[in-house]
Amino acid sequence: MNILLTGGLGYVGSHAAIELSESGHEVFLLDNLSNSELSTLSNLYAIVKKNIVFFEGDVRDEKLLLSILKDNNIEMVIHFAGLKSVNESVSYPLEYYENNVTGSISLLNAMSKSGVKKLIFSSSASVYGKPLYVPIDESHPLNPINPYAQTKKYVEEIMTDVARSDQSCQFVFLRYFNPVGAHSSGLIGENARGTPNNLVPFIAKVAKGVLPCLTVFGSDYATHDGTGIRDYIHVVDLAKGHLAAISYFDEGMENPAIFNLGTGFGVSVLEMIQAYEAASNKKIKFKKVSRRAGDVAECYANNSRASVVLKWHAVLDLKDMCESSWKYTASKFEIIP
Ligand code: WQD
Repeated sequence: MNILLTGGLGYVGSHAAIELSESGHEVFLLDNLSNSELSTLSNLYAIVKKNIVFFEGDVRDEKLLLSILKDNNIEMVIHFAGLKSVNESVSYPLEYYENNVTGSISLLNAMSKSGVKKLIFSSSASVYGKPLYVPIDESHPLNPINPYAQTKKYVEEIMTDVARSDQSCQFVFLRYFNPVGAHSSGLIGENARGTPNNLVPFIAKVAKGVLPCLTVFGSDYATHDGTGIRDYIHVVDLAKGHLAAISYFDEGMENPAIFNLGTGFGVSVLEMIQAYEAASNKKIKFKKVSRRAGDVAECYANNSRASVVLKWHAVLDLKDMCESSWKYTASKFEIIP
C-alpha cells in the first residue's frame, strides 16, 4: 500500500518508516525538519536499502498535501507530525494549537479532497491526565492537564466527528505511553536537541558525558522506591504496532478504533537509571529534587485491547531499550569539550 507518514523523519515516524518499508509498503515521508534531521533519510536508505520518497514541507500546507496525496496515489496516512514537548506547550500554547490542531485539520481537508479515507493518528497516553486507576485502559476518562495533551484530545474529537459525518472515513488512534530506545543498527534514534525534557534521552546524554548530572524529579511518591513510574515501550515495538493497525482496517472495523500502545509494565526512575548503567557500563550521576509540576506518580497501560484486537504486544524489554539507546547515543553525540 502507498502510505504517507507526516512527520516521517521524526523519532517514531522514522522507525515506523523502516517497519512499513520492510513489510513491502511504499513509504512516502513529509517532514518540515523542525524537530528532525535530513541525515535521518540517508540512514533510512542505509537500513532498508530501497526507495523512500521524502517531501520537505509542513502539514499546514494543504496545497502541498493535496498534491502529494493525489500524485502518489496515497491510500493511507499515518499522522505523526506535531509538536510534542509538554512543558514547551505550557509556555507556548498557541504554537501547539496551530501546529497540532490546525495542521491536522489541513491534513483532513486534503484527504477529503483527494479521496484518501484511512488515517492512523499518533495520539498519546497524556490525554488521560492524572490516572484515576492503573493500569489505564482505553475507557479511562480523558482529562488532559497541559496544552500538548489537550491538542491530542481535540484532534481525536475532530477525527471522531469526521467519521460520524462520513463512515467511509476510517480512523485508528494509537495512544503511546513512553517511547524509548532506538533501531538495532544504531543509525537512528531519539535525537533530542539541546537539553532533553524526557528521562531516557537525558540519562543517555549523562552516560555520554554531554550532560553532567540527571535531576530526579520527586522521590516521595507513593511508589516502591519513591520515584515516578512509567510504561516505557521500545520504539521498534511501537513501530510494529502501526503495522498491526494497518492490517486492522476493514469494512466492519470500529471507527474510530482506539488502542493503548504500552508494555503494561511500570518502571521507576531509579530502575531506569540502574538499567541504563548496566547497558552503558557508565555511572549515571543524579540528584533528587522536588517533584516536577504536572507529573503523576504512576502511569502504565492496560494493553489488552491491542493484544486481543490487533494481535500485537511489546516483545522488547528494558535491557533492549537501554542497550539500543546507548548504541545510538554512543555513536551520535560528540563529547562537548
Ligand atoms: C518520565 C519520568 C519524571 C526527566 C511525557 C509526555 C508524554 C510523552 C512522553 C509525548 C517522570 C522523571 C524526567 C528528568 C526525571 N511524550 N524525570 N528527570 O512526563 O511521563 O511523559 O513524555 O507523547 O506525552 O507527557 O515522560 O520522560 O518526561 O518523565 O526525574 O530529567 O521521569 O518525573 O517520573 P512523561 P518523562
